Amino acid sequence: MAILITGVAGFIGSNLASILIGKGKHVFGIDNFSRGSLNNLDSVRTSSNFTFEKVDLTNNEELLKIIGSFHAHEKISEVWHLAANSDIPAGVEDPKIDLKDTFMSTFGILGAMRAFDIPIILFASSSAVYGDHGDVPLVENLGPLLPVSNYGAMKLASEAAISAAAESFLDRAYIFRFPNVVGVPATHGVMLDFVRKLKITPKELHVLGDGTQQKGYLHVEELIDAMLLIQKKSKDKVSVFNVGADDEGISVRDIAEETVRVASPGAAIKYGEGNKGWVGDVPRFTYCVDKLRSIGWEPKLGSAEAIKRALAQIVIQETRS
Ligand SMILES: NC(=O)c1ccc[n+]([C@@H]2O[C@H](COP(=O)([O-])OP(=O)(O)OC[C@H]3O[C@@H](n4cnc5c(N)ncnc54)[C@H](O)[C@@H]3O)[C@@H](O)[C@H]2O)c1
Repeated sequence: MAILITGVAGFIGSNLASILIGKGKHVFGIDNFSRGSLNNLDSVRTSSNFTFEKVDLTNNEELLKIIGSFHAHEKISEVWHLAANSDIPAGVEDPKIDLKDTFMSTFGILGAMRAFDIPIILFASSSAVYGDHGDVPLVENLGPLLPVSNYGAMKLASEAAISAAAESFLDRAYIFRFPNVVGVPATHGVMLDFVRKLKITPKELHVLGDGTQQKGYLHVEELIDAMLLIQKKSKDKVSVFNVGADDEGISVRDIAEETVRVASPGAAIKYGEGNKGWVGDVPRFTYCVDKLRSIGWEPKLGSAEAIKRALAQIVIQETRS
């Protein structure tokens, strides 16, 4: 039995592939390389337990052909659906990006799962499905859910399509809602943005917004640990779990100062205006992970430690690139 990962050449997908292969699993990965890259697969590419095919999940004909021919010689037991547009501001500029890569990719993989009787989906959703609720803690059963970005809207639509599929042909669905995940290979995110900006202008760092945005950050290794624990422990037909740091988070100002200290000491930090980094940004939220704790999850790192560890890794990544 093999495990299919969509978006395998991206940040989280490549880490997940490496961890599952390390546990002796067979992984079949697919990606269209719109944001991921072959380099991200360096640690798994040569493993005999890894197979890769380049395909766009919204090309239904090709997707069915590729999954069908793999499935014919090795059954796929579950799909980790991670492919999506991970660039929220890009989706605000052009909503078709989220429609295609975030929603239609879900629609496409569900069609293939139906065609080949693949019973389990594990879906990377997002805290963006909640929208902006100010100080109200974001709990899994909060409603109504009113996303403020197209990205969040298409993730919520994907959750809805998965829930309907569970009623008709899936055995089980896991929906993981996470906010900010950090680590390497970084493909996007605040620290990568800062480190790259400082490479171009080492004496000055321009920050989007006034730096007061405050969010929780989870290291990718902890995210994967938590998702695997949920898969093991939760027996609901459709499980919805927040997966995030269990603290008040860290401000963009603190991240900017830490990045300057590590990557370009002495650089001046110039802040923008307003407390949002971009349209559709949720500047502050309180994330409730009580449900995750109730199944025995204990985070090892807080947001500040996750940021420090990831920053050191990203600086090395960018020095090598
Ligand atoms: N990183 C985070 O902080 C974060 C937070 C919440 C949710 N998520 C979700 O987790 C998942 C993985 O995120 P990531 O940070 O690894 O992003 P990423 O951009 O590094 O990886 C996504 C991968 O999907 C691929 N892809 C996109 N559209 C595709 C398509 N139509 N067909 C085939 N492949 C396609 C990209 O090439 C990329 O390799 C995404 O669904 C993302 O929305 C990430």
